[in-house]
Amino acid sequence: MLQGKVIILGVTGGIAVYKAVELLRLLTKAGATVHVVMTRAATEFVTPLTFQTLSSNPVHLELFNLISEQEIGHISLAERADLFVIAPATANFIGKVACGIADDLLTTTVMATKAPVLIAPAMNVNMYQNPIYRENERRLKEHGYLFVPPACGMLACGYEGEGKLQVPAVILEEAVAALTRKDLAGERILVTAGPTLEEIDPVRYISNHSSGKMGYAIARQARLRGAAVTLVSGPTAIADPWGVKVLRVESAREMRDAVLAELESCDVVIKAAAVADYRPKQRAGTKMKKGAESLSIELEKNPDILAEVGGRKEGRILVGFAAETADLVANATAKLNAKNLDMVVANDVSLEGAGFNVDTNIVKILSKDGKVEELPKMAKDQLAGVILDRVLALRREKGHRI
Ligand code: PMT
Repeated sequence: MLQGKVIILGVTGGIAVYKAVELLRLLTKAGATVHVVMTRAATEFVTPLTFQTLSSNPVHLELFNLISEQEIGHISLAERADLFVIAPATANFIGKVACGIADDLLTTTVMATKAPVLIAPAMNVNMYQNPIYRENERRLKEHGYLFVPPACGMLACGYEGEGKLQVPAVILEEAVAALTRKDLAGERILVTAGPTLEEIDPVRYISNHSSGKMGYAIARQARLRGAAVTLVSGPTAIADPWGVKVLRVESAREMRDAVLAELESCDVVIKAAAVADYRPKQRAGTKMKKGAESLSIELEKNPDILAEVGGRKEGRILVGFAAETADLVANATAKLNAKNLDMVVANDVSLEGAGFNVDTNIVKILSKDGKVEELPKMAKDQLAGVILDRVLALRREKGHRI
């Protein structure tokens, strides 16, 4: 995710410094080279040795370092960086940068950089709500500084409210977003993911093996690239992707209602969900009792959501998936035409490393003009990027401004 990127992690003095250690670990695990700059106050909470060991780089503390002064330390750090992440950022640090005060290594380096600066504030709730702090944050945002909002909860000072340092995984996600080109900015994308669940009785249901990984990967990549994303998800074990509006549903009928309610406010629909084609005709009100040697359950057809959206398509781009185990191209082409799609992502789910509940997929992308693009096995995150590239090309073909 962050391969080849140089990140300066600025750590200022607050109890949340220990969480910056976890953030450093996540940044390096994602492939970034990280140089840590600590304020003097930060070293009171965690020693520089911890950051040095985990970053495999010396920690920078002093504005004037006589040993390395053949390079001007703060300027060289500022120029080397692809991104600055300040976590935790105190009200004091934010106030200083907002007022142009550069009186230590971190403030000087931040003010000398042209790289994006991502600030994760952490402070007492009253400080966070203080109008002077709010003014400083607004001022920095106006100048292009990026912020990760703090979380709400019990603060170290005993107060409850906004001001907790955001969780490291979210700060990592925002760091990735800060380094991602916003070529989908202004687009409103609706994605569906996961299985649907059709109840037989209060304890049993019909469903399938969809984990939601494919659809969540598309939602996440679209958000990183600047789109406003709504994800309609069947039941999955995956946490809501940060920055995405998530609507959780269970049955195909609930998914249909959620998709149709969101349709007006989207330009692109990508349907990766594995929707049950049938549901039990009767749902038993109480647990069905074991009895006869065999049992038949009568099923009735669920709505075909994609076909319905295809009927109301207007200027939207509509992308479907096709999960097949035979005659992949023929079956996917039939779906492309029958459901009025612009594109269908066809996966032969009988192949190893493709389809349900794995981290990779092997697909062919079929377009309305008859083109079939065969893609090699790739991670679902990477495939999500390719699908969004094709969507972007279609949007441009249709004359949209992006
Ligand atoms: O979730 P994962 O574990 O990551 O697995 C990914 C996946 C295998 C679920 C995904 O790659 C995939 O193939 N999704 C579509 C699964 C499916 O239901 O395919 P289908 O060929 O039955 O349906 C064709 C299209 O119509 C799909 O876009 C589907 O969302 C849509 N559909 C189907 C039935 C229905 N009643 N309503 C629909 O909208």
